[in-house]
Amino acid sequence: MTFSDQLLNWFDKHGRKDLPWQQNVTPYRVWLSEIMLQQTQVKTVIPYFERFTQRYPDINSLAVAPTDDVLALWTGLGYYARARNLHKAAQTIKTKHNGQMPKKIEQLIALPGIGRSTAGAIMALAHNQRAPILDGNVKRVLARYYQVEGWPGKKPVENKLWTLAEQLLPEHRIAHYIQAQMDLGATLCTRTKPSCEQCPLKDNCQAFLHDFPQNYPHSKPKKIIPIKETYWLVMQSQSGKVLLERRPPSGIWGGLWSFPEVESPTEISDICTEKFNLNIATVSIKPSFKHVFSHFKLSIHPHLIEGTITPMQINENNNGQWYKISEALLLGLPAPVKYFLHSLQ
Ligand code: ADE
Repeated sequence: MTFSDQLLNWFDKHGRKDLPWQQNVTPYRVWLSEIMLQQTQVKTVIPYFERFTQRYPDINSLAVAPTDDVLALWTGLGYYARARNLHKAAQTIKTKHNGQMPKKIEQLIALPGIGRSTAGAIMALAHNQRAPILDGNVKRVLARYYQVEGWPGKKPVENKLWTLAEQLLPEHRIAHYIQAQMDLGATLCTRTKPSCEQCPLKDNCQAFLHDFPQNYPHSKPKKIIPIKETYWLVMQSQSGKVLLERRPPSGIWGGLWSFPEVESPTEISDICTEKFNLNIATVSIKPSFKHVFSHFKLSIHPHLIEGTITPMQINENNNGQWYKISEALLLGLPAPVKYFLHSLQ
């Protein structure tokens, strides 16, 4: 049996046939329901659909309504651009299409708020024309059935799914078939816990046969963020003071107080001696840790350098300031610096 026949048989037994927009089917009611159902669940939509169609039973009544009234009826449904586009589209249909919902898919797509999938649904459900849809539910069903790799947000993956959706269209019962695809995705082929054992397509579902269906469609790839290494020079004097520098005003931790940093561990001793006048006694390497920024990770390698300084040297040093830890904790500090100072106490 073909994909579409299996799906249609299942639909006859288990599909949804009593939804409000499946009664008194008109292109307007199909269009309105498809817009309301974008990003919104059926049970939320039903009362809104009932109120909306009572107030605006056809395209003309919607087209002449004040925008504020239309938006007021939409209150609570969210994504208000949908209501604004719906209203604008009704006005366009009134003036450019004689008040009749256009019958060509290109004309539908030209209206505000109607993309290829919504246009396909209107073509199939309202005009009984063979047109594929590819909403979130159908993407999921097809990505699993054909084990399509890749994230559908990428054009080539989306195009592949459109091609498959088109090839699967039956010659007959197109409205039921489109509704069946949506219903399967909403009831059995769900995102996290699909009920594969009850699915009419399980014998040929590639993701079910060879992998976990939950792994499809693939999600958006995580950005790989670079890791930068930095070496902290945590210099501590004989009296327990630590040296902090104020960071430049721009860049990470701009204007905050932090330990001097170097990009390579080889120069550490020289810098402490030459730049900061520290007579080094011991150097101990503390455990490294990571700090995550939006666009990179910083892998921090703290080196605790203990030594001696003279009061003269303190005054001569322009590159940083020696603070008691208790004083340092009152300064503007990046979180990891504060954390590290606490560990020294
Ligand atoms: N989601 C989008 N369109 C739908 C429809 N016609 N029935 C049920 N859920 C849907």
